[in-house]
Amino acid sequence: MNRLIEYMLPPAKSTLAGETDALFAFINISSFIFIIGITLTMLYFAWRYRRKSDDDVTPVISHNNILEITWSVIPLILVIIVFSWGYSTYMKKISPPSDAYEVRVVGKSWLWEFHYDNGNVSVNELHVPENRPVKLIMSSDDVIHSFYVPDFRVKMDVLPNRYTSVWFEATEQGESTVYCTEYCGTAHSNMLATVHVHSQEDFEDWLETSGGSGEDLPPVERGEMLVQQNACMTCHSTDGSRLTGPTFQGAWGSDVPLENGETVQFDENYVRESILEPNAKVHQGFQPVMPSYAGTLDDRQIDAIIEYIKTLQ
Ligand code: CUA
Repeated sequence: MNRLIEYMLPPAKSTLAGETDALFAFINISSFIFIIGITLTMLYFAWRYRRKSDDDVTPVISHNNILEITWSVIPLILVIIVFSWGYSTYMKKISPPSDAYEVRVVGKSWLWEFHYDNGNVSVNELHVPENRPVKLIMSSDDVIHSFYVPDFRVKMDVLPNRYTSVWFEATEQGESTVYCTEYCGTAHSNMLATVHVHSQEDFEDWLETSGGSGEDLPPVERGEMLVQQNACMTCHSTDGSRLTGPTFQGAWGSDVPLENGETVQFDENYVRESILEPNAKVHQGFQPVMPSYAGTLDDRQIDAIIEYIKTLQ
């Protein structure tokens, strides 16, 4: 049975994953038993009751109480088992222990932002300690997304204007992939993140030291780091290629044609406005789909990104 699960699902890496897998196996195995049983019975009956001579006549059978009750009650019992099992597992998954470590998750088209209790923010990289319950309090800045980590058997919709939450306790150190499982536009399939499961100590260290503010770096390097951390490259290339948004290469100082027919210079003010209010001046030929970074990036960080874009000639 374990082989069967291993064949169909990724390795289970959270405390509640085993329960999901057991239910998954139960549904699959009972379906398999029934499909084999029903197919064999059908084949046997077709052979057993075949027409043997020209004057064979099918008898008239109006009903059979015992048979009809049997084939109604057995599926009913199975459905009740699957429902109560599924319900109890679901309730466990949405009821975090009270000592859970809380992380705020924000979904935006098309990235995941993680806010920690000490003010650290990471984009597309979720850091968590192992063997400790982690509660995710999630919301969306724009459309509906869905947070899915197959390794933890955790999936929950992420909605604008209200919070949803889910929790898990990772059982081993390593990395797992987060997928967005609600179609949310052009770059939906690129809306990925990585969960890094650290030992408790390493996690504390990460919280203390990194979060990677990069305040001590020269502006250009800090800008490059921020562009990576904030997943700008999902939509803006640095080599001239066209993605969801315009490329950064050669952009600095150029005249940007806008949707409304006007032109604007690609300068400090245009970059700043485009980061904080992306849909104010949209580059001609592109969709107005960038999320706002107001509240995510501060002025010094925006300065650094500007310095970095200047170097991409
Ligand atoms: Cu976000 Cu699909």
